[in-house]
Amino acid sequence: MAATDGPPILKLGVDDAIAGLVLSTEAHWNQTEEDWRIFLHDGVVFGIRDGTRLVATAALLPYSGNNAWISMVLVSGTHRRLGLATRLVDACLETARKNGLTSWLDATPDGAAVYGPLGFTPTLQLRRLKLANLGRAEAPPSSSATIDALSARDRRATGFDRTALLSAFAQRSGSRIVSAHGAIALVRDGRTARHIGPLFADHAATALALVHAITRSETGPLLIDAVASQAAFLEGLTGSGWTIERPFQRMRFGPATAMVEEMPFAVAGPEFG
Ligand SMILES: CC(C)(COP(=O)(O)OP(=O)(O)OC[C@H]1O[C@@H](n2cnc3c(N)ncnc32)[C@H](O)[C@@H]1OP(=O)(O)O)[C@@H](O)C(=O)NCCC(=O)NCCS
Repeated sequence: MAATDGPPILKLGVDDAIAGLVLSTEAHWNQTEEDWRIFLHDGVVFGIRDGTRLVATAALLPYSGNNAWISMVLVSGTHRRLGLATRLVDACLETARKNGLTSWLDATPDGAAVYGPLGFTPTLQLRRLKLANLGRAEAPPSSSATIDALSARDRRATGFDRTALLSAFAQRSGSRIVSAHGAIALVRDGRTARHIGPLFADHAATALALVHAITRSETGPLLIDAVASQAAFLEGLTGSGWTIERPFQRMRFGPATAMVEEMPFAVAGPEFG
């Protein structure tokens, strides 16, 4: 089928959150219904239906400074290799172009095969790590960390002002901002595992110490999306029971607009950057 043929591309609404969750759950992703609501409420989510069933999505979430994050590129197993992802990402890029936005995304290996030919160029590499973490929880590390401190650090590392997004995460029940020795991180619920990130620190040792303190205060499985070039951090994680699940390739379409002053140790998640 040519990329322009086929069922129409629709703009989805907040009522599609559950249908979106069905698609991300089919792909074994960790997003919650609340995550979908962020994309549907604050961004533009394109979708394709087969009859009434939502079978493919792609989201564009605007960020400050003429940037946008593309994510939730999902095609149900029953509808792959028909060009649907290509058409939906094209729709996101067209929206970005009309609004003068540089687009970013964190690609799975399957996704990178779609985005490369569309003109995305690779930037940094990430590693998704998982810890089964069946231990008994100790008291959480005491912390006076604030959302202001987290978003200021996030701005230095991403070049984006994501105060609204990080505040929305932090206000969810189950979320907490933790800091110690100059390292700071957000922990939030996911569908199957809690997620640590973003995480900022001055040194790998303090980043690792914070992860270990968080780990000791949690009972269930944990995920972290570490920046691959933070080699000592990555080695410390794999040396303490974390296993690498998959790589992500960060890619950009359009000119680099964001000035970054520090490299994060872990990001907010591939769907948010
Ligand atoms: C990745 C995904 C979105 C692709 O959706 P799709 O609709 O099948 O993709 P398209 O049909 O537009 O593929 C376009 C091209 O990308 C490449 N491609 C797509 N999937 C591929 C795969 N699994 N392996 C290798 N190449 C692939 C091919 O070149 C393909 O063209 P072709 O079919 O003519 O050979 C889909 O497989 C999926 O939902 N996977 C699970 C979730 C995921 O990884 N999403 C990407 C997040 S970054």
